[in-house]
Amino acid sequence: MSKDKLNINIKPLGVLDLLTFKKLVPYRKKKIVEAPANPVKETPPVNVLAHRLHPQRQYMTVSEIVEETAAARTYRLVPDKDSETFELAQFRPGQYLSFSFNIEGSTVTRPYSISSSPEEALKGFYEITVKQNEGGYVSNFIFKNWKPGTAVISSGPQGYFYHERLRDSSKVIGIAGGCGITPFRSMAKSIAEGALDISLTLFYGSNTINEIIFLKEFEELERASKGRLKVVHVLSEEKAEGIEYGFITGDLIRKHADLNGSSVFICGPQVMYQFLRKEIGSLGLRKKDVRWELFGEIKNVDKVTGYPMEKADGSFMMFVHMDGSTQRIPASAGESLLTALERAGMNPPSACRSGACGFCRSLLISGDVFIPEDEDGRRLADKKFGYIHPCSSFPVSDLEIIIPRAR
Ligand code: FES
Repeated sequence: MSKDKLNINIKPLGVLDLLTFKKLVPYRKKKIVEAPANPVKETPPVNVLAHRLHPQRQYMTVSEIVEETAAARTYRLVPDKDSETFELAQFRPGQYLSFSFNIEGSTVTRPYSISSSPEEALKGFYEITVKQNEGGYVSNFIFKNWKPGTAVISSGPQGYFYHERLRDSSKVIGIAGGCGITPFRSMAKSIAEGALDISLTLFYGSNTINEIIFLKEFEELERASKGRLKVVHVLSEEKAEGIEYGFITGDLIRKHADLNGSSVFICGPQVMYQFLRKEIGSLGLRKKDVRWELFGEIKNVDKVTGYPMEKADGSFMMFVHMDGSTQRIPASAGESLLTALERAGMNPPSACRSGACGFCRSLLISGDVFIPEDEDGRRLADKKFGYIHPCSSFPVSDLEIIIPRAR
């Protein structure tokens, strides 16, 4: 068939491209033959830079502790001068660090949002703000053990709860509950410092006035941001002058913020999300304009829609293949596989503990797990081929899994 009949318009430059491409394969083969057989001794500069920008581990010490409320403390962290961490990795306001703790012989991780600004990281410190929860395994450990000089280990900055100009509006509505205020403190500081070019209307729900974290500081940040930050406090358990009373409802959001063309960022405890899903739904926003930050492992999984209640009190056995060995460990129905693994003294990889980042991705060989829909961040291919995220998977039978090498 002739070229005319096929109606192909081959331009002279296109032919040249094809010729170049034809030469590419023999050129590569020649280069491979000529290359030295010994491994390159020096780390390529691009790898050095990548490690600096995205370190797997950061070694720091606690330099200062500030009591924010009776149950919340801010910890300032600086590079540990006796370690390989000589500077802190940069981050976007809203990102988190995953900290490793050795508690009673088990290594566990917890994600904490960075509550300071990227500009402060350039000055040499991060801050995280921790709220002590009743029965909180790790928050109690931090309150008891972290003192000035304590050495701590974290990941590099992680997560996607940050403003992205290509995706989000420059008009942002923030909704925070309890310690969910921490990523917004980082954003508010960045706005006041002139580094984050957005306007933020922030709704912050607390139980009582004494439980509001950063009350005075946010007043100062509002002044410093020259109208680009507005904070609306909402108290649910007491009334106070000039402060809204009740819960953060759709009507309250409409009263104080212009929804038109806004992006909404939400960060708070699990119980707040259950309430807010209905309220946010009533605002008629597009799904892509609402960003829900992760809140860690699901508590009370038996309250989640779709949970098989007949399994709620079950105890199961897990056969776990990791790092070339196999262990048999018990797992209770109400705890995630990740928690069971850590309790057994294993050190599986993890970061977000919310089913989103994929760090803990493992292969389920046999058995069944319950995965809450809101925390199922697996790719479609992973679902098809039996991969699970142990941080958001709850056992409902005996099972066998393969965990990739610890990172
Ligand atoms: S730790 Fe992030 S998906 Fe499990």
